[in-house]
Amino acid sequence: RRRPAREQTGPGRSGPSRRPLPAPTTPTREFVTGLPKAELHLHLEGTLEPDLKLRLAQRNGIDIGQSTVEEVRATYPFDSPTRFLPEYYPAMEALQTADDFYELADAYLARAAADGVKHAEMFFDPQAHTSRGVPFEAVVTGYHRAAAEAPSKHGIDAHLILCFLRDHSAQSAAETLEASVPFRDKILGVGLDSDERDNPPQKFADVFARARELGYRLTMHCDIDQVGSIDNIRTVLDEIGVDRVDHGTNVVEDPALVDVVRERGLGLTTCPISNSFVTDDMKATEIAGLLRSGVRVTVNSDDPAYFGGYVAENYVALAEAAGLTAQAVVQLARNSVESSGLRVSPRAAARAR
Ligand code: ADE
Ligand code: ZN
Repeated sequence: RRRPAREQTGPGRSGPSRRPLPAPTTPTREFVTGLPKAELHLHLEGTLEPDLKLRLAQRNGIDIGQSTVEEVRATYPFDSPTRFLPEYYPAMEALQTADDFYELADAYLARAAADGVKHAEMFFDPQAHTSRGVPFEAVVTGYHRAAAEAPSKHGIDAHLILCFLRDHSAQSAAETLEASVPFRDKILGVGLDSDERDNPPQKFADVFARARELGYRLTMHCDIDQVGSIDNIRTVLDEIGVDRVDHGTNVVEDPALVDVVRERGLGLTTCPISNSFVTDDMKATEIAGLLRSGVRVTVNSDDPAYFGGYVAENYVALAEAAGLTAQAVVQLARNSVESSGLRVSPRAAARAR
């Protein structure tokens, strides 16, 4: 926008030293997209967009009760947090074959590349599929094919993290872990998701100890504002010994634990838009405060098909809500690389890039 002449400053009028400093502005979407970044908290099943769901259902001859994309979209639970998980798992019935899982992951990776993602660690929920008769092998080989193609096809180093459903039994998690062993080279780590109520981390202590023996990296969800959130965060840090915490923003309730997280350099994978959906609060103040205090907080999209924002939109939403500077946003992107499961040399390369 052209300024009126009387506001103009410059060498001819007042000299460069009198030029007012530009006011700090919220980083633009373009700036955020241009930053190389890692996405570390992303559920592949949460990227199932209505058009792909309908196409896969029709291809597999599955009646999902809708026959147009608009009808499918209307079933997505944008209007009620409590509806999310009960709607989320049944929606997966459209996914049947290895090709379906491949297409789902490939579509996410294309979308992530457009947001400047260079490294992705993608959660998947095998029990949501094996429990309805889909073979473990179809899930993992389909997803892995997309991950293996991602460097050349999308410019992304992509990895898989197998999540156990915490509202299923520890025995079921243990069986799922053993089923993963033949595919060990295709899976970077294990995590824990689904409904945290009455399903604390201790329930899976033995499963995670065994996963560590198998060489998996470990992460667990500590969801926002759960009953006992702070106790669960303490448990995952002290007893489980995770490499990262998913969400974990309630750590602000205990400054001593914030110090532990900072000193260990542990990544917290926050998801601002998802937070505002499931709790009516983005938790921007908490996330920005943790960032300022030197904790490795990162920004991620969680279930973008349901919560309506991929990773760049999450950065912008947080930056606007918390009034973050460009430097703070760069720090978030740097944190994402530093918190990733990359081995040292690729991590250094990614950071330099
Ligand atoms: N699995 C996928 N998305 C989830 C969420 N928002 N909370 C718990 N488990 C999930
Ligand atoms: Zn999640």
